[in-house]
Amino acid sequence: MPDSVTITDNRTGESVEIPIVDGGVDSEQWRKLLPGIWFYDPAFMTTAATSSGITELDGEAGVLRYKGYPIEQLAEQSTYLEVAYLLINGELPTAEQFDAWKHEITYHTFIHENVRKRFMEGFHYDAHPMGMLVSAVAALSTFYLDAKDIDDREVRDKQIIRLIAKMPTLAACAHRFSVGQPFVYPDNNLDFAANFLSMMWKVAEPQYAANPVLARAIDVLFILHADHEQNCSTTAMRVVGSSHADPYVATAGAAAALYGPRHGGANEAVIRMLTEIGSYENVEPFIDDVKAGKGRLQGFGHRVYKNYDPRAKIIKRVADEVFEVTGKNPLLDIALKLEEVALADEYFTSRRLYPNVDFYSGLIYQAMGFPIDMFPVLFAIPRTSGWLAHWGELLEQGQKIARPRQLYTGPAQRDYVPMGSR
Ligand code: CMC
Repeated sequence: MPDSVTITDNRTGESVEIPIVDGGVDSEQWRKLLPGIWFYDPAFMTTAATSSGITELDGEAGVLRYKGYPIEQLAEQSTYLEVAYLLINGELPTAEQFDAWKHEITYHTFIHENVRKRFMEGFHYDAHPMGMLVSAVAALSTFYLDAKDIDDREVRDKQIIRLIAKMPTLAACAHRFSVGQPFVYPDNNLDFAANFLSMMWKVAEPQYAANPVLARAIDVLFILHADHEQNCSTTAMRVVGSSHADPYVATAGAAAALYGPRHGGANEAVIRMLTEIGSYENVEPFIDDVKAGKGRLQGFGHRVYKNYDPRAKIIKRVADEVFEVTGKNPLLDIALKLEEVALADEYFTSRRLYPNVDFYSGLIYQAMGFPIDMFPVLFAIPRTSGWLAHWGELLEQGQKIARPRQLYTGPAQRDYVPMGSR
């Protein structure tokens, strides 16, 4: 049996046979046979917008691998900075390469004083930190004018390092501003996660000593969130990047996509939902409401995973370790009950709705003291390395500018009617 599909234009009887390669069929053959007939696929449900060699995701089998390495092994044995190197450069670093990478990232964590003093401190006192982050990342474009030279690999690498390094600084800066605390400068003696926690929580001590269990938990969460192939924000990154915009504004575009409750804002929505449910007894009535179409069970369901999200399994283990240190998040019992009830309910099982990465991540962040507004920001920090890996790949592929077609369904031509005659 040939590994191909045949498309027949019933108007003319003409056919074209298209081979199936890497699980897809090339749209060029379709275009040749059916010029002007567009493939209608809102939300890209059936479209592979690119080929990619970065992350492999099998939603049926619940598999997630970065550059071939299973997420479970990376979460157990690696660090976020090593994973970021892997995503950007394609291979795990040698000890020497890793030292150089870590040094570069560590020495690019500072932000220009104007970004902090004039820009960040110019926001309204109750600004959402994710809105601040999106704007600040875009503003970096005005500080690094060399970033426009996207054809030069060395220049690109420099911006990649700057972005990965500065995200935690901007994130912590947004938080400190929103709670009226002074900005904490990066500490180059600390690891990536410990330095972020220092910038978040340091008060008057000479050096902030993060609890190692909590610093490791953050690092593991960063590994789990580093990439997820062609998700909404990565697609935004590729679309903006395809116009050859600089990486700062492209990253700001991706971060804006991440801000929404259907994507990076979901863990925030989970906590709000659990708080609203409030007690054990309210779980079943809440599930009934969801089934009746009154809202969604936040942290459940995924466009690609139709099985348990492998990241959710790892996060559940991390949650236990974190709660040992912080004490149990009181919302945990409601979450566990919600999961139990949903997984036993035909509505959820028949639609293959399982907990996703966001179901438990918010509980961990909350137990560690992060305000809910910071949750999407915590997602954006590590996802930056994934976005940039895809941006680099896009440029190497020499892809054309993203420009989908539409099926026009509006009015036919009509004549303008002056306002007085309407
Ligand atoms: N609660 C209740 N019903 C749901 C849910 C949910 N969370 N998710 C999907 N459904 C139902 C939906 O109503 C539909 O039912 P029907 O066929 O009767 O109309 C069916 O399941 C299919 O839903 P869909 O909206 O077509 O699925 P989608 O692939 O477009 O949506 C999703 C994926 C993640 C946006 C959605 O599941 C959702 O809104 N989940 C809640 C928000 C959430 O947790 N988002 C985080 C995603 S993981 C983080 C990341 O990787 O970015």
